Amino acid sequence: PAAPLFATPLVVPPVLKPTLSIAGTDYYDMTMRTAQQQILPGAKTPIWGYNGIFPGPTIRARKNRPIVIRQHNKLPADAAVHLHGGNVRSSSDGLPGQEIKPGKNRVYIYPNRQQASTLWYHDHVHHHEAFNTTQGLTGLYLITDPAEDRLGLPTGRYDVPMVIQDRSFNPDGSFRLPDPGKGEFFGEVPLVNGRPSPFFEVEQRRYRFRLLNAASSDCLHELTLGAGDSFHVIGTDGGLLTAPVQVNKLPLAPSERVEVIVDFSKYPVGSQIVLASSVFGLPMNLLRFDVKKAKGQDRLPGKLVPIERLKESKATVHRDFQLNLDPARGEMVINGKSFDPDRIDIRPKLGSTEVWTIHNAESAELPIPHVFHTHLVRFQILDRNGNAPAPFESGWKDSVTLQAGERVRIIMRFGDFPGRYLYHCHLLGHADAGMMATMFVTP
Ligand code: C2O
Repeated sequence: PAAPLFATPLVVPPVLKPTLSIAGTDYYDMTMRTAQQQILPGAKTPIWGYNGIFPGPTIRARKNRPIVIRQHNKLPADAAVHLHGGNVRSSSDGLPGQEIKPGKNRVYIYPNRQQASTLWYHDHVHHHEAFNTTQGLTGLYLITDPAEDRLGLPTGRYDVPMVIQDRSFNPDGSFRLPDPGKGEFFGEVPLVNGRPSPFFEVEQRRYRFRLLNAASSDCLHELTLGAGDSFHVIGTDGGLLTAPVQVNKLPLAPSERVEVIVDFSKYPVGSQIVLASSVFGLPMNLLRFDVKKAKGQDRLPGKLVPIERLKESKATVHRDFQLNLDPARGEMVINGKSFDPDRIDIRPKLGSTEVWTIHNAESAELPIPHVFHTHLVRFQILDRNGNAPAPFESGWKDSVTLQAGERVRIIMRFGDFPGRYLYHCHLLGHADAGMMATMFVTP
């Protein structure tokens, strides 16, 4: 079945309701199960979904208000839930060894000690991550806080998450799936919130969009709006920037989030503006905005939130990481090693500040990009190939893209929790093929 362009309205994933709220904590239940979902017209696509929907329900969290989620696995395979960007205990991180067997459940505790930010949750079973998430195991987790409330940013139906993914379909409407444990996966059909290139009616006013690239492999999303129209970036993976940054295009690699403000008041009623991206230089139409008359007023704050800049002079440990394909072994490696769940690769100390130099050591002949992601800690980019990071990536990050040959230095402080965590390439085919390692944060 063909995917029609701008034929279905954008849907926003429903917000999950707690099953119980008591003593300042919200308790949730979620069931991972198979379901059928209409994605293409006239076809039903079998999916694996949190609560049977794709993307899964959105969880809305409040800073310093803990959430306890019991995840029930009704899938025909092991599952493990990882809160991407979450500052959580190792036992709630969804690590290898913490898989939920079919028919079983597991409790995850999320303390939400971190600032307002757009996080997401997804499956993390090693060697099956690309396979499981491609079937639909992805959802959003949004944290708010008082500092953000005070800014008067667009809220409610003017604060819209957009999960961007690519999929390919078999003639019967089912997803074409990657082979577990190997290779990259690229889809031909762009989906936004699980719908092929939808349209979205907007009023002539400002909107906040929380964009997540939840694709497995496609790395070169360069987002554009209309004919290169400008918009403002207000946030990155780990929270808001210090001030809005005006851009007219924006790269967004798998697992990265970016929050933007688009001002539709500059467009006449009836305008149609396309949000597009290019993948390997090929244009992809993601979504069309249809502009309607405005109700009400709004403004863009000149300043957002302060960001504590981590200082290189405070760093006590420097580490180097080299990321590349080892063609002889057909494995993706970090410092020459492929993932071994029984090996601890590094032992950062709780409370310490470290500087990491990440090098994408792929050759010009095989220019493979990588997206370096750390669990538990967020970081700041010190420099990219010796130059200051672009203003739109100068905030808190947990994922950073490196094109072949690039070197990026990042700085982080190991706060809150000791224990076992992962760092890896977030191109899921690469992680599945070994580009993942373990850190043990020592008390
Ligand atoms: Cu979204 Cu281990 O990552």
